Amino acid sequence: MTAPKILVFAGSTRRDAFSQKLAAAVVPLLKSVGAEVTHINLADFDMPLYNGDLEAEQGLPPNTRRLQLLIASHDALLIATPEYNGSITPLELNVLDWCSRADKDNPATSGAVVFADKPAAILSSSPGPLGGMRALFHLRDLLGYLGMVVIPQQLAVGRAGEAFAADGSLADPRQQAALEGIARRLTEVAASIRK
Ligand SMILES: Cc1cc2nc3c(=O)[nH]c(=O)nc-3n(C[C@H](O)[C@H](O)[C@H](O)COP(=O)(O)O)c2cc1C
Repeated sequence: MTAPKILVFAGSTRRDAFSQKLAAAVVPLLKSVGAEVTHINLADFDMPLYNGDLEAEQGLPPNTRRLQLLIASHDALLIATPEYNGSITPLELNVLDWCSRADKDNPATSGAVVFADKPAAILSSSPGPLGGMRALFHLRDLLGYLGMVVIPQQLAVGRAGEAFAADGSLADPRQQAALEGIARRLTEVAASIRK
């Protein structure tokens, strides 16, 4: 059996972002349970704010096509989100909105089909006590709307400024175990429903 390919990214491009640390923390766990991981930074996929006129005049931005192709070539997604005003970041929404748009010249690798029936796992982090868990509801809903199979297991890491050990893992053993469980389950589901 070939390893399921999992694409990992965070919903913040801030230097020292907690969500980036959380995304980085799950990568070795995914690898340890047999996944092949591509860990990207959305800073490398800069896109303009979605605008229908821009799309009509210029089509999809090159970085949207790059990311659609990347999503299409992976078996699952893992997103670590911050929480902005109880929801996901404008960066995440913009990226997902652009990627949900069809490119008429490349229907098999653009639009909703790149997400459809693909497993996903979601994580959140925040300096606050709730760990951004309200953003998880929005992200789960949005990914479900796109047709993704979001696994029920999720993790919200609160007090994120103190949550990470020097080696990048989660300092709380229960949280680290929960993260490993999510990595394992996503990998299993990705392997079982891979197209
Ligand atoms: C516009 C804005 C809204 C925010 N709203 C929330 C919020 O609803 N809940 C929360 O826990 N933190 C909130 N924060 C604080 C973020 O959790 C904090 O800035 C965090 O470090 C951002 O994520 P990052 O570290 O991954 O960049 C907000 C921050 C910004 C800039």
